[in-house]
Amino acid sequence: MVAKKVKIAIIGAGMAGLTAANRLYTTSHDLFDLTVFEAGHRIGGRILTSDFAGDRIETGATWIHGIGGSPVYALATEQNLLEDSSCNWERMDGFPSDQLTIAEGGFMVDQDHIAGPISSLYRGLMDDARTGHATSPDGDPSVGVYLRRGFQQYQATRAPSADTGCRDDTWSLEALEESLFAMEECIERVCTSADNLSDLNLSAESEYIDFPGEHITIAKGYSRIVEHLASGLPPGTIRLGQRLRRVEWCSGDGTPTDGSSPVRLQFSDNTVVHADHVIVTVSLGVLKAEIGKESGKGNGIGIHFDPALPDFKREAIRRLGWGVVNKLFMEMETETEMESREAFPFLRMVFNQDPKDERMKRHASKIPWWIRKTGSICPIYSGSHVLLAWFVGKEATHLESLDDEEIIRGVHATLDAFLPTCGAKYAARCTGTETAMRRIRSVKRSRWATDPLFLGSYSYVSIGSSGDDLDLMAEPLPRGKDEVPRLQILFGGEATHRTHYSTTHGAYYSGIREADRLLQFYNVTSV
Ligand SMILES: Cc1cc2nc3c(=O)[nH]c(=O)nc-3n(C[C@H](O)[C@H](O)[C@H](O)COP(=O)(O)OP(=O)(O)OC[C@H]3O[C@@H](n4cnc5c(N)ncnc54)[C@H](O)[C@@H]3O)c2cc1C
Ligand SMILES: *[C@@H]1O[C@H](CO)[C@@H](O)[C@H](O)[C@H]1NC(C)=O
Ligand SMILES: *[C@@H]1O[C@H](CO)[C@@H](O)[C@H](O)[C@H]1NC(C)=O
Ligand SMILES: *[C@@H]1O[C@H](CO)[C@@H](O)[C@H](O)[C@H]1NC(C)=O
Repeated sequence: MVAKKVKIAIIGAGMAGLTAANRLYTTSHDLFDLTVFEAGHRIGGRILTSDFAGDRIETGATWIHGIGGSPVYALATEQNLLEDSSCNWERMDGFPSDQLTIAEGGFMVDQDHIAGPISSLYRGLMDDARTGHATSPDGDPSVGVYLRRGFQQYQATRAPSADTGCRDDTWSLEALEESLFAMEECIERVCTSADNLSDLNLSAESEYIDFPGEHITIAKGYSRIVEHLASGLPPGTIRLGQRLRRVEWCSGDGTPTDGSSPVRLQFSDNTVVHADHVIVTVSLGVLKAEIGKESGKGNGIGIHFDPALPDFKREAIRRLGWGVVNKLFMEMETETEMESREAFPFLRMVFNQDPKDERMKRHASKIPWWIRKTGSICPIYSGSHVLLAWFVGKEATHLESLDDEEIIRGVHATLDAFLPTCGAKYAARCTGTETAMRRIRSVKRSRWATDPLFLGSYSYVSIGSSGDDLDLMAEPLPRGKDEVPRLQILFGGEATHRTHYSTTHGAYYSGIREADRLLQFYNVTSV
């Protein structure tokens, strides 16, 4: 009798699912009957390289966050993906150091005396939080309150400055510092996807691990990493357009309905597949949609589990933070006149948090609310005609609903307020032609929140959750070690990694972890 192959189904062909598949196949070869089911019509998930106005851009994952020890960096090096002479790519020149900090209204903020100290203050506070040296004032557990107290302390103790450096009477020094600090906070919002930093758990920040070394982008595109992982699988392993709708499994009290394969998977086209093990790698947003549905709030776009996921799993899914981050790419007009002008700067925008002056109010009213929390607009590499801005939270979600024309109008109003042709600082460079403004020709933005296969961007540890929840996310089902078939449902994905959540390498590690869990279960070391 020929032994029946163990059937493993992997849900999702993103970084986690493809890493698990690759690991299972390359370690065991033909031992398993292995299939990856992907709802979309492409692989990669939140990794998606694209082209825009002649440049290579990343719509999702962008950076290798620290090259020291990163498995993604190792893959990129091994596959020779870090150089490309055939085209220009996002941040091919690394992270820009020549930044201009400009306040709403158009004057340049003094770097040495005002912007610099606020940046250092912010970085120092976040470094303390990351290394576990931050104490939460009044016992408040959030990053938001911690940062604000740090800022207030700074303002209360810094030497009063005679020369504010504000060559603009519409701003007081205090208001300028306040708005600068808000701009710095935007960096943290993008990094974590937390719309409101008051919802970000301070003590959990110290559990998050960053790799040391430079942060770099991938010349040939992030997608090449997942394409490489997929190329090692036998043809037909990955099935696109297969959206999982329902998982029937046996919890502690049930017995398999159908002999050996305890898990029954039903897809949106009603195809049914039986498996011994399923590794679920869909986003936390997709899992939350299911929980929401059960509590009457959902939109019916999640995956239905029968029996329902146990409480410990549902609670972890509910508690963990999940946010929206989107990227907006803007192509500038390239008239000859524009070409002759200086390259667009790396513009850090200090929005007036509380415009009082009439002129400021007029400017402010033209800038739409959804852009007022964006910290910067910059070319994707020095000299590129493509500009990039990051959006978070409510602003990011709203961005998805706008049409291109409305976005362009909002960006123009913003550029006019920050880079006026004859603004105070820019006066020196001003050619006197009122029309020589920078204009946007077309835009392209990501829509991670409305895409039903993601429903958001990445996870964070919110107030009310903890690092333990990330471990609970990773626990396979059923939980006990009774007679019921073990390891029926396994969980991978970015939001299941305690110290590297929210990243591609976190997703990668989770794929390795779940593959190894099964390999160990079947006593496979290597073939
Ligand atoms: C804008 C943005 C910027 C980012 N920047 C960075 C960065 O600079 N550096 C970094 O390290 N990380 C970054 N990330 C995070 C990184 O992209 C993710 O952490 C990582 O790609 C997640 O991989 P995953 O396999 O866990 O999930 P996913 O990539 O979401 O894969 C899950 C797959 O499941 C599929 N799926 C969903 N529902 C179903 C269903 N019902 N049936 C079948 N399949 C389904 C989805 O289509 C998807 O392909 C960024 C993310 C975003 C959105
Ligand atoms: C952020 O959350 C805090 C606490 O829940 C709340 O007081 C504050 O108004 C929120 N801020 C914004 C901008 O929503
Ligand atoms: C924050 O996270 C820590 C560590 O993971 C946890 O112990 C703590 O209970 C959490 N705090 C809150 C208020 O959620
Ligand atoms: C793996 O090895 C252990 C210990 O030798 C054994 O008890 C178990 O049955 C093996 N598992 C499988 C699936 O062969």
